[in-house]
Amino acid sequence: MIKSGISGFFSISRNGLVSIPQQIRSKLIFPKRVIFKPGAINKIGDEIERLPHLKKGLLVTGKKAMKRGGIPQTLAAALKDKGIETILFDQIESNPDVLSVEEGRKILRRNGCDFVIGLGGGSVLDAAKMIAFLANKDDSPLDYLDGKEAVEAGIPYIAITTTGTGSEVTNNLNLVSRELGKKGTVRSPLLVPDLALVDSELTHSLPRNFTIAVGVDGLVAPLEAYVGKKATPLTDEFAFEAIRLVIENIKLVANDGNDAVAREGMALASLLGAISFVNSALGAVHGLALPFGTHFNLIHGEICGTFLPLIMEYNLPISYKKYEQVAKFMGVESQGRDSFAVALEGIERIKSLLLELGIPLSLRALVGDRLIEENDIEQILDNVGGTSILNNPNPPDSAPSREDQYRIIQAGM
Ligand SMILES: [Fe+2]
Repeated sequence: MIKSGISGFFSISRNGLVSIPQQIRSKLIFPKRVIFKPGAINKIGDEIERLPHLKKGLLVTGKKAMKRGGIPQTLAAALKDKGIETILFDQIESNPDVLSVEEGRKILRRNGCDFVIGLGGGSVLDAAKMIAFLANKDDSPLDYLDGKEAVEAGIPYIAITTTGTGSEVTNNLNLVSRELGKKGTVRSPLLVPDLALVDSELTHSLPRNFTIAVGVDGLVAPLEAYVGKKATPLTDEFAFEAIRLVIENIKLVANDGNDAVAREGMALASLLGAISFVNSALGAVHGLALPFGTHFNLIHGEICGTFLPLIMEYNLPISYKKYEQVAKFMGVESQGRDSFAVALEGIERIKSLLLELGIPLSLRALVGDRLIEENDIEQILDNVGGTSILNNPNPPDSAPSREDQYRIIQAGM
């Protein structure tokens, strides 16, 4: 079992139950129950027995998860042992569509399912979350994308993450309507899963490039939460621990996907990182990487990695004290040196780490053969918005201006 440096803020029991002291928990968005344990999926029946009267679950997953190691079958077998039936719905695409949610709800009703299990990465967990929420309602998912307020809870929802993207602990979800050209976020305390299960053994079979991309995203997210305007001493604890765990483990999992201890470290990092950014917010890396990545169809973790040093340099005048802490953890000598210089050297260490992982530091290199024209940049900047860019620490009282965003992209070419 990996050790954690913030045991005062949470503890993990032998059976994997993650506990947070009540006075801290009351200040956090956090699922009712979180299990973190390698192999926990085999014990899911015991967990579901704690939830009353569940007989038949809709198991929501993606098309790819089926190909990796028969995880849905393992899960269905563990539930069958407890007399719980599962109906498989394995059609969730990346960036889930409202039509997939409608389809899932139809299958759930046709089969009389009384709870939902999401098994997969962020897209699957978001779609499953919405299916569970809408199961007892006649509303369309589009109503909620259009801003309808959630007032009534859905049916029980269990989130099992295979990649650790955060949806397992969040109170929100992202959906698109390809037909209407719409995308949006639904947010409500009623969307926090009833049970989140993090089993690092499920990540062992993830391919190397995917492992790196998810791992880099797992570094960027808590780093943004750590320095963001909404950061609190409480979110800092979770964020810094997540950063520490990624830095310690990401090269190990990149080199050997079956390194069980390192995989466990990365899984815990993503859980703690998610707690930090759900309760704080992200920053300008995500603010710019999302529209840039959508425009050029890039892998989320990779474009976040490329933007990370650019934004750290931009934030340095405001955030150098916190970056100094990260630098010190990365082994930068700090004795007798000023914080700014230590922080700056830390950014260089981050760049070296990204290069070692194969993440290019230039946007041109990441985009490859395609040209990045003025027109592309203007379109990307038109689509920057949302809570991430607002939470960026620099400037302290507003979001980075369009001119600043333009300069950051130019510096990254
Ligand atoms: Fe991200």
